[in-house]
Amino acid sequence: MTTLPTATIPVIAIDGPTASGKGTVAQRVATALGFHYLDSGALYRLTALAALKQGVDLNDENRVAEVARSLNLQFFADKVILDGEDVSEQIRTESASQNASRVAAFPTVRSALTERQRAFRVAPGLVCDGRDMASVIFPDAQLKIFLTASVEARAERRTNQLKQKGNSAILADVVKELRTRDERDSNRQVAPLRKLDDAYLLDTTEISADSAVEQVLDWAKDTIQSL
Ligand code: CDP
Repeated sequence: MTTLPTATIPVIAIDGPTASGKGTVAQRVATALGFHYLDSGALYRLTALAALKQGVDLNDENRVAEVARSLNLQFFADKVILDGEDVSEQIRTESASQNASRVAAFPTVRSALTERQRAFRVAPGLVCDGRDMASVIFPDAQLKIFLTASVEARAERRTNQLKQKGNSAILADVVKELRTRDERDSNRQVAPLRKLDDAYLLDTTEISADSAVEQVLDWAKDTIQSL
């Protein structure tokens, strides 16, 4: 078997704000193409959670970066294990989201996680989602997509998600939380969320997840030679 040089392994980078549907779309595209999938946000969520479990102050950038460097993780299709403990649910709470966004603003935390993310680029290809997949982690991605939706549509989706999981959720609170996180993620000094000039814009306010997946697959066929 020949080993492909890493730079030729196709990457589909999907960036966008919270609750835009990028995780769902990215996972479904990865399944359709038989590609690997990286949920980069999970790494920031896991860093914040691991720091708290170790009694590290989330304002202490150097210590949080040290936690990020030494994360002991195992990923399975439907769960993630941190130091032997299944934390799949713990990293999805609203406070875990806000804590992830706080630690993600630290440059040394981001660089501590860079190589771990790049290691997911394995044949036959990778679909990844986050905030800086196209700008920082895989600037040579063959396909870059900025996936977004209106605040109202995103808040409604997040509220429904929370309710399906049996959590109570008030739309007005969810809107407030989305805005806080969007603002922090877009205005930070390092790797702020933004659409690149060479990224396709996919606005899912008015379209279903099925149509969004179809659109990404069409673009992928146009831009990735091996498909
Ligand atoms: O699913 P949702 O979009 O709400 O969140 P996520 O993708 O799991 O990301 C959680 C937080 O991690 C975000 O609010 C960002 O602050 C941060 N993040 C980041 O800075 N860079 C990434 N590539 C992915 C996530």
